[in-house]
Amino acid sequence: MEGIMEFQGMVEEIRANLSGIGHKIAVMSGKGGVGKTTVAVNLAVSLAKKCKVSLLDADIDCPNVNKFLGIKERLTARGGKMVPVNKYGMSVVSFASLQESEDQPVIWRGPMLSKAIMELLGNVEWGKQDYLIVDLPPGTSDAPLTIMQILKPDGVVIVTTPQEVAVVDARKSARMAMKMEIPVIGIIENMTGDIFGTGGGEKAAGDLGVEFLGRVRLDKRISGSADKGKPFVLEESPVSGGFGDIVKKVKQYTDKK
Ligand SMILES: Nc1ncnc2c1ncn2[C@@H]1O[C@H](COP(=O)(O)OP(=O)(O)OP(=O)(O)O)[C@@H](O)[C@H]1O
Ligand SMILES: [Mg+2]
Repeated sequence: MEGIMEFQGMVEEIRANLSGIGHKIAVMSGKGGVGKTTVAVNLAVSLAKKCKVSLLDADIDCPNVNKFLGIKERLTARGGKMVPVNKYGMSVVSFASLQESEDQPVIWRGPMLSKAIMELLGNVEWGKQDYLIVDLPPGTSDAPLTIMQILKPDGVVIVTTPQEVAVVDARKSARMAMKMEIPVIGIIENMTGDIFGTGGGEKAAGDLGVEFLGRVRLDKRISGSADKGKPFVLEESPVSGGFGDIVKKVKQYTDKK
């Protein structure tokens, strides 16, 4: 808990503000560009078919969630709190909804990024939700640390691509979560196929003794959906079917808690 003691009063307020949320799940990876936002967005939309779901984009300097969901709206205010944007049946909060334009760079040092995440956690009208899914930026520093210390997710889902370079970083993320006493729900291998290979995610899960949640193959329909602002699970295709098993495993994990 060191480093957040100075914010103790604020932390209590933030936790009170989040008290209507049932399960909190963060999606993380050590390496960038492996598919965290893809997983977070599609997991949230899948869960939102039957549950009340909020999705928080905790990537402050390069927020991508709005782009993946085709959101152009800004956050509005009500009673001194920010109101999430409603899209595909869920509540979405991204720092991008506070920016003038999507090309505007956020050039901040770590403590300011953490402060911005705390502002979103504490000053959004989250309401009653079954799930809060958090899309993290890559790495094991500011944003993941703030989310783990303050939000205290029920668990993290780790995304990796099959290659060794990504798997090494995925193991680092898993060990960070374990050190912070946040359970690892499991590992997803993304972009499986001829180009990056297959098996690295499953091996990492085995090495770490955590569940292997499944693989998502490298498929241009997935990047195409993201570019269109429509999650791939909402389109009828073989890639969307496979993701259902991953969602089921995550749901089974939270249902047990
Ligand atoms: N299985 C897949 N097949 C094809 N394209 C994919 C797949 N998964 C992700 N992509 C594409 O790869 C790019 C990176 O994915 P994404 O933005 O989800 O990664 P990320 O881990 O969130 O990246 P960052 O570290 O920058 O936050 C995006 O253009 C996305 O549409
Ligand atoms: Mg991302």
